[in-house]
Amino acid sequence: MHNRKRVIWAIYHKEGTKKRVKLDKFSISVQNARMSHAQQAQISSDVCFVRAYAKINLTLDVLGRRADGYHELATIMQTVDLHDTICLTATADQRVQMICSIPELSSDDNLAARAVYMVRQRLACSQGVRIELYKRIPMAAGLGGGSSDAAAVLLALQQWWQLPLSPAELLSMAASIGSDVPFFLTGGLALCEGRGERVTPLARYWPTSMRWLLLLKPPISLSTAAVFRNLPAGDYTEGTNSRMVSNALNARKDPQLEYLQNSLEREVLERYPEVAQAREDLLRAGAQFVRLCGSGPTLFAPFAELTGALQVQQRVHTLGYEVYLSRAIHPNTGSVCFF
Ligand code: C5P
Repeated sequence: MHNRKRVIWAIYHKEGTKKRVKLDKFSISVQNARMSHAQQAQISSDVCFVRAYAKINLTLDVLGRRADGYHELATIMQTVDLHDTICLTATADQRVQMICSIPELSSDDNLAARAVYMVRQRLACSQGVRIELYKRIPMAAGLGGGSSDAAAVLLALQQWWQLPLSPAELLSMAASIGSDVPFFLTGGLALCEGRGERVTPLARYWPTSMRWLLLLKPPISLSTAAVFRNLPAGDYTEGTNSRMVSNALNARKDPQLEYLQNSLEREVLERYPEVAQAREDLLRAGAQFVRLCGSGPTLFAPFAELTGALQVQQRVHTLGYEVYLSRAIHPNTGSVCFF
């Protein structure tokens, strides 16, 4: 029953005409071979698997509040190998079904589902899709999991359905889903400015002192909107940290630790004792350096050597923390897997 063959048609409008494209294995593999900038999706004729990676923020400068209610940012983000797995299946009806390993995320509000609806609407296409999402990235944790899922779906659909979307169109769709989504279209190491949607890739240089990363998720979830809303203007910066770190990394030099700052960290540590306690516990367990990921509550601690990272992981695990050993990754090389 598994060799049932179905031809999938992508229908879209281009320059005023309606175009119908047959998706066959040959055109999909040609399309895949052309990819250079994005993560590889794993594709057969009616099933497509893709990974969605988490991120950490090396810096996060909040420059000020904007008239639209968002905050102007300069932040350096890096994807890490903790990932969700998404399986997209073409269905015979026109429904978008969202099925997530975390039941409360199995709804149309899930950013992965919103990405499918957005593509269908933009291209006047009504192909049915089942989205199965296996979550590993903790939710509401500052690791960008939901945003990464949305970007992974956009990239996967673009290849699978051979969408006639320019990088600028894809970027604008990503930005309308969420501020972090554009970063995940390329991933790797990048400076993100504006709301987060102006993404400038940085040199592929990663300090050896950060070869291993512990990601510790304190036992609370935070709302990004609430963290930004409560941020006093006294925590705004001029963006010096992100500038200095970008310059260092582009010169293939290790940035000075004093510039690895997150404008949201002081407020989060003060307002949420669980996060302050977790930071204290990481330091006591032997971490030399601890920073908040995005708006938190996840903390990251870098290590030069695996043994040091494992020791600290074991100690905080014994204290009952949810903790992941991870590493920086560029999706180009990190997403390859086998059917
Ligand atoms: O863009 P996204 O929906 O991910 O943002 C979630 C919330 O975080 C926004 O509603 C906003 O309150 C806050 N935010 C902000 N400035 C940014 C990004 C997010 O104030 N640059």
